This record gives sequence, structure tokens and C-alpha cells, in this order.
Amino acid sequence: MNVSIFGLGYVGAVTAGCLAELGHGIVGADVQQAKVDAFNTGRSPIIEPELDDLLGTARAGGRLRATTSAEEAVAATDASIICVGTPSLESGRLNLDFVRKVSEQIAAALRVSGKRHVILFRSTMLPGSTRQMVRDFFEDLRVSGQVSVYYCPEFLREGTAVRDFREPSLAVVGTHDGREPESDEARRLLGGTPAVLAWEGAEMIKYACNYFHALKVGFANEIGRLSKFLGEDGARVMDVVCADTRLNISRYYMKPGNPFGGSCLPKDVSALLSFARQEGITLPLLDNTLDTNQAHLDLLIKLITSKGARRVGLLGLAFKADTDDLRGSPMVAVAETLLGRGFHLSIYDPSLNLSRLIGANEAEIQRRMPHLASLLKDDPREVLESSDLIVASQKCVPLEQLATLVNANQYVIDVNGWRELAELPWNYEGLCW
Ligand SMILES: NC(=O)c1ccc[n+]([C@@H]2O[C@H](COP(=O)([O-])OP(=O)(O)OC[C@H]3O[C@@H](n4cnc5c(N)ncnc54)[C@H](O)[C@@H]3O)[C@@H](O)[C@H]2O)c1
Repeated sequence: MNVSIFGLGYVGAVTAGCLAELGHGIVGADVQQAKVDAFNTGRSPIIEPELDDLLGTARAGGRLRATTSAEEAVAATDASIICVGTPSLESGRLNLDFVRKVSEQIAAALRVSGKRHVILFRSTMLPGSTRQMVRDFFEDLRVSGQVSVYYCPEFLREGTAVRDFREPSLAVVGTHDGREPESDEARRLLGGTPAVLAWEGAEMIKYACNYFHALKVGFANEIGRLSKFLGEDGARVMDVVCADTRLNISRYYMKPGNPFGGSCLPKDVSALLSFARQEGITLPLLDNTLDTNQAHLDLLIKLITSKGARRVGLLGLAFKADTDDLRGSPMVAVAETLLGRGFHLSIYDPSLNLSRLIGANEAEIQRRMPHLASLLKDDPREVLESSDLIVASQKCVPLEQLATLVNANQYVIDVNGWRELAELPWNYEGLCW
């Protein structure tokens, strides 16, 4: 394909060099004459390993040139990849002026040429930005089929950018409606087997990834500070933590849903934090862990109480399935709050047998919900039939059985991503989806 690259900075220059290496014809476009001149002499406008060679070879092979004219770039190509900067404003908000400007220029050029064109936004933009750009500049062209618009976030790291382009850690394509694109044009340009989402989902993934990286660095540094205070080698501690790829570096604990609970996490988080505070060690990231968990629980309660239903059924009470451990269970907190506000409650949890509860578990119930026995039902039917709203925190009733018992007037709140619930004939809402 012949491809325009708008913005010849770190992302644009690398994309240009790597696409030229794959045989595409590249027209770079930038407002800075110096960058255009660098391209036109086969030099990289930025320092990045391998890039000078890639651009030099492409230029020598007649597959690379650059211009300051958007119209010229669009007229000569089949696709435009938008890699212009999206800097922060003074307030921290995102400045989309460059993206807007380029979008306006591309749209104007396409109205003149009338040619079919692929537009691929690559700059990092907040969810909703691609749709906004399409609404403002491309909607009629998109509806008529003259343009296809994709949002494909970039994950390259400066310093290893060429290698990252050739072997991307992640490939994502955002489409208008989240469905697989009819043509493979985005894949042909960016390679890999991309995950396909709607534009907003693809935009969100980029932020989730960068936030996660920032969070990991902050976490490792806080554990490092704490370790050093204790005379331990923080790097060694984190090395060993990362060696566990089942629980630590894995999908486990990475699914939005229930707030954390149980007998260990809340207790251990509190213990480490109060120790650090006592010793005067500042750990702002770890310090907010309990607050974010509480905010999640508050949201769940708000969701439940917002539906106008007074008879609520809980599927699952223990902090997770297949245990009778009620200590620190978020659903016990939900039950306590609802009872305190006068809701009628019934509960089904097949792992809970009150007569077998002993020790700390029994003490927890006696302290927080002494009349739990009267709320717990042995048969899920009793819960489902007596509730206007069901809060499903565990998959403790088979879907087929649920399907025979629910009706269209009931609400269900899905706490842990039991998506099949959405197929049943009731009003479904997920806590995080
Ligand atoms: N740098 C990275 O490692 C990296 C990685 C992933 C994603 N991103 C994202 O990619 C985008 C680009 O980042 P970058 O680091 O390459 O930025 P950059 O500042 O290095 O380059 C942006 C280029 O866009 C050009 N530009 C501005 N307005 C223009 C216009 N109207 N027409 C043509 N060119 C124009 C600028 O002159 C500049 O050369 C940003 O949204 C960034 O967040 C960057």
C-alpha cells in the first residue's frame, strides 16, 4: 500500500521505517520542515536504534519521501496513519488540537480527491476521541464507504521501538462497532493478530496498559523503599515476587468484579500500612489500596439500592466460591448495609452450613449478622422467587436452573463477570461491564 504517516516524531518515524521495510510506499507529513528534510535525505529525525538504516534503505529504494502538505500526502496514498503528538495541557487534560488539525486536513483532501482511503488513528487519545473526530470530520465519508476508520494504539517503547514494531507485545484494532473489520487493511499495515474492540475499547486499552505500567513502577518502588528500611534487598524481593507466574504475574486477580476480601488480604494490607505509617515511611500508592476497595464496595451498594427493589436475593455470601470463610467478605458488608437500610434479604450459598461454622468464622457471623440463619436458604428457588433483585457474586446456581426461575420483572446485578446471565429474560447489569 501507499501510506501517509502524519507526525514524524518517535511513533511516526518508526512506523514509517518499519512499514517501508515491509514494502509499503511511505509519504511522511509533518509541520516541521527540519523533520521533512531529514526524511527526504533518508535520515531519521529522532535517535532510535536501526531507524537511520531503515529510512536510508527506504529512501534509496524510492519508497520514502516527506512533505509539509497534507493534501499532497493524502492524494498520493491509500491510507493515512495519524501519529501526531497529544501533549498535556497545563491542567493535565489532553490536548487534541494536532489530531483535530490533521483530521480536518485529511477530510478536506479526501473531499477533493474522492478516493477511497483508510484512516488509522495511532496517537494516544482518551476514550471517545476517535468517535468525536469521526463525528466532526469523517462521518459522511465513513457512511458512504469512502473511508474506513480504525483506532490502533501504539505500544512501542523508545530505545527498542523498531524491535517492538516487528514483534508487537499487543495488537489492537478499534472499529466503529467493535466487529471484525470487513477488510484486513488495518492488519496488513500493522501485523499481528489483533484484538478487535469498538474505538472506545481500543482507546481504553492503551490507557489501561500505560496506567498499569505506571502502577507497577510505583508498586515496585514502594516495596523497594519498605524493603530497604527493613535492611532487605528490594530488587531481590521483587524478583522473587515476579517468579510466581500463577498468582502474581498472571491474569489471576486481574478481573474487575468483587472487591477483595477474605481473611488475608484486608488484614495483611492493613498490617503493612500501619507498620509503614508508624515508621514514617511514605507509601501513597499502597496507602490507597483499602480506599479503592471501599469505593468499589460503595459502588456495588449504590447500584443495588438504585434499582428501587426492596426484596434482594444474594447468590453467594462467602468472599469467594467453594469456601465457607465469611471473614472480610464484601457480600457480608453488602448484606449488613442492606439490612440496616430495611431491605428484605434472602441468601443462597451452598458452601455455607451454619451448623458447621466454628471458630473465627462463627464469631464473625455472631458479631455482624447474628440472625443470618433466618436469611440463609437451602434452596435457591426460595431466594429467586422471593426477590425482585438478585445480586450474583458467585456462580452457585446452574444457569439452566436460573433460566427456569427468573422473570422479566426481576433485576440481576452481576458482580463477577458471569456474562451468560445477560441472556436470561431479566434486567441485567454488570458491576464493571
Ligand atoms: N513516544 C512513544 O514512545 C509513544 C509510544 C506509544 C504511543 N505514543 C503516542 O503517539 C503519539 C505521538 O507521540 P510521539 O512521541 O511520536 O510525538 P512527537 O512529539 O515525537 O511527534 C509528533 C509529531 O507530530 C507533528 N505534528 C504536529 N502537528 C502536526 C500536523 N498538523 N501535521 C503533521 N504533523 C504534525 C509534530 O511536528 C511532531 O513531529 C502521542 O499521542 C503519544 O502519546 C507515543
